[in-house]
Amino acid sequence: MEYSITAEEFQRFRTLIYDESGISLSEQKKSLLASRLSKRLRDLDLATFSDYYATVMEDQTRQEFTRLLDLISTNKTDFFREPKHFDFLRERIIPELECAKRIRIWSSACSTGEEPYTIAMTLYEAVQNPAQWDFKILASDLSTRVLAKAASGLYDEDRFRDVPPEFIKRHFLRGLGEQTGVFKVKPHLADAITFRRLNLMDDRFPIKHPLDLIFCRNVMIYFDRPTQETLVNKFHHYLKPGGYLFIGHSESLQWVKHPFESLAPTIYQKER
Ligand SMILES: C[S@@+](CC[C@H](N)C(=O)[O-])C[C@H]1O[C@@H](n2cnc3c(N)ncnc32)[C@H](O)[C@@H]1O
Repeated sequence: MEYSITAEEFQRFRTLIYDESGISLSEQKKSLLASRLSKRLRDLDLATFSDYYATVMEDQTRQEFTRLLDLISTNKTDFFREPKHFDFLRERIIPELECAKRIRIWSSACSTGEEPYTIAMTLYEAVQNPAQWDFKILASDLSTRVLAKAASGLYDEDRFRDVPPEFIKRHFLRGLGEQTGVFKVKPHLADAITFRRLNLMDDRFPIKHPLDLIFCRNVMIYFDRPTQETLVNKFHHYLKPGGYLFIGHSESLQWVKHPFESLAPTIYQKER
């Protein structure tokens, strides 16, 4: 059974979600919100969405709020999703850093981890001698549930459709016995990545050294234009001169004021 949500209840959830995550829900998302949250109301034995709102607000640990965000956000991702970005990393960015042999990348809405592991595989496959390089990838998301999955490094076989078989062999361990059909990321890849919960709405991020590249793909689509503008300008601050920003292929900064040079529809560069 699906609970019905009043216009006023929807407005309260909408404001709360926007203020905390930047996710902007249009009027058309009313029934989507109701369907995504109904099971939670049932599990908590609550009668109305107002009761659930009160539960979220009264929870000092904020766990219920995190749960709410998990239920409404979309975590769809894939290994080698939008592969042109990984080609650009391999063909343009890595050669530029060949002398320094040091690269700092932030996967800023990493979901269940396929994006940062793809970045790490691309780095390992592209450089001549990975042991001579200093790779560090910060991978963050708002959702603790997806971050736990990402940090486990465990993926079902069917997630690897777009991964070349030789990459799977070099970078993942094949499960045996009860673990048949499950692959675990090898330590050399896992060690290059730090997972952390970060909210893109925060004023500041715990990043001390300027970055070479930021991935912010397929999340800005849920933000309104002022939120996108604030975020893109924050990213600019954390990049090195000449650093790059990648956004999702269905996203655009066309209507957003920003200081980047646009190199391709979803690839931006900070001035040198
Ligand atoms: C569709 S996934 C994108 C995953 C990956 N970047 C890709 O393109 O395949 C969007 C992710 O953004 C996260 N997200 C939503 N709002 C966020 C925020 N305010 N701060 C950080 N992450 C957020 C969601 O939890 C979700 O995992």
